[in-house]
Amino acid sequence: MWNRAKSIFPIVTIDLCLVAGGTCAQQAPPQTSKAQHTLQKAEDPWWKHAVIYEIYPRSFQDSNGDGVGDINGITSRLDYLRDLGIDAVWISPMYPSPLVDFGYDVSDYSAIDPLYGTLADFDRLVSEAKRRNIRVIMDFVPNHTSDQHPWFKESRSSRTNPKRDWYIWRDGKGPGQPPNNWQSWFGHSAWKFDPSTNQYYYHHFYTEQPDLNWRNPEVRKAMYDAMRFWLERGVAGFRIDAVSRLFEDPNLHDDPILPGKNAYGDPNIAHKYTDNLPEVHEVLREMRRVADEYPGNPVLISEADEPNITELTKMYGRKNDEVQLPMDFQIADVNKLSAPDFRRLLNEIERNAAGGQPHYFFSNHDQPRQWDRYGDGVHNDQIAKLMAALLLTMRATPLMYYGEEIGMRTTDPVRKEDVQDPIGKMGWPEEKGRDGERTPMQWDGSKNAGFSTAERPWLPVPLSSAKYNVNAESQDPGSILSFYKRLIALRRSESALRDGRYVPLDRDDPFVFAYLRKKPGKGDAILVVLNMSGEPRTVKLDLAADGIRDSSARPLIAAPEMAQEATVLNHFTIPAFGVFIGSVH
Ligand code: GLC
Repeated sequence: MWNRAKSIFPIVTIDLCLVAGGTCAQQAPPQTSKAQHTLQKAEDPWWKHAVIYEIYPRSFQDSNGDGVGDINGITSRLDYLRDLGIDAVWISPMYPSPLVDFGYDVSDYSAIDPLYGTLADFDRLVSEAKRRNIRVIMDFVPNHTSDQHPWFKESRSSRTNPKRDWYIWRDGKGPGQPPNNWQSWFGHSAWKFDPSTNQYYYHHFYTEQPDLNWRNPEVRKAMYDAMRFWLERGVAGFRIDAVSRLFEDPNLHDDPILPGKNAYGDPNIAHKYTDNLPEVHEVLREMRRVADEYPGNPVLISEADEPNITELTKMYGRKNDEVQLPMDFQIADVNKLSAPDFRRLLNEIERNAAGGQPHYFFSNHDQPRQWDRYGDGVHNDQIAKLMAALLLTMRATPLMYYGEEIGMRTTDPVRKEDVQDPIGKMGWPEEKGRDGERTPMQWDGSKNAGFSTAERPWLPVPLSSAKYNVNAESQDPGSILSFYKRLIALRRSESALRDGRYVPLDRDDPFVFAYLRKKPGKGDAILVVLNMSGEPRTVKLDLAADGIRDSSARPLIAAPEMAQEATVLNHFTIPAFGVFIGSVH
């Protein structure tokens, strides 16, 4: 899920589609009633070329002065996203919710929380986005509902209620003893006793987030109908939340205990019996069939912290019939500038047996921002550019997180009483929660950085907004924002960069990560050289075997700027944390 705590996943082996070169997808077109869709899907879907941008709606733009971002705020910033070069936005949940987990506790899957606006506002957002060629991807939260969802209220009302089996209810082991040792991802027992019916319910996350019972066909039907509700309104797909947690061992085996304690003071455990159970894939196939009922190639993105390439590959499905874009947490969580680590992971995913499209990101609303995780504290702005270049030149669909393009940093609360995220209250000071990566978007140098006119936005605006904001950075050609814009524009204009093959170079260099993005057939290619160390480095790039005849590269984007002499391929000198992107023939 994210790297605050690591779970251990059961390793289950299945036969994968072992067709080389990504032809699996073409051999097994998704089932759909409309032949035309099938044809479209087999061709070149939009999500393979898109740059996707995550918006945390509470923090993007407040349009009504209540201190919390909203839908009309997002709509008012669509021109910014278009100018940045964004093709699709994934918006974190805006469904009605008591907001215990800030929207990931849903109390109605087919409505918009008034805090964010109305369904009419949402429809306007989708159509205004479409006018700018931007697609809208919803967040879909299938693992659990809010305890305030009418389904759960019914379910808990009596043991014989028709919705009782929509959730996971079990007897305790004895008086005051939960059914087993399963732990919530957010600390302490995953079972909550409900005195009115004298049973426990299971919650993988907060106690206010009871898990749905995905073995119940009525639950599945209700959730698929919710997906259809949004697909009918024109959404371009879903990011599926916490999908590996959908099933638990029906025999309630205890999870294995590991050495040490977590931030909440519980013994560490391996979530062996509550995570990544094989039935997850059955559900993903069903979800994919729902998405495939609709035109326009809706995309499914899975949130699941898969521990290795074998597990990640399973998310695509044996016949490429599950999710198109499983988020790659291994790349996100390298957490150090290590050319060997990135090279190894990229090589692995390039060879994924499903031939699936990689989906990379470095930041999101659950983990400290990349500026802090990859920065060295001295050259962070240059390193921000290095990470941007990596994200936007790898062969993958890149996923950005709002504010990374201006170098927003994690700004944790300094006092426990200021913490909003419940895990920060529970785990303080070791676990400060996720407020730090959810602070308001920094638009300009005015009060509240242009995010809100409220006296106090829901989270404080970081002081760094005086320098790092959209307005200031738009006027500075050397800013992080200008760098992102140039990179995204280059991705659009250079088809080799967008669609070309990935060819690793200089495979053993401990500091310099270099690769080609190469169009099929001809010699034309984009050369990417990234110095992941704090010293200038000189490398010898021998590209003859890759059909490149040039002796030096023509710079397209470099940071810092590099003299032409430096780009001689057999004596290529790149500055500390330097980025070079050039063309070679
Ligand atoms: C996902 C979300 C996270 C949320 C959790 C429980 O991991 O990204 O923010 O707290 O699911 O819904």
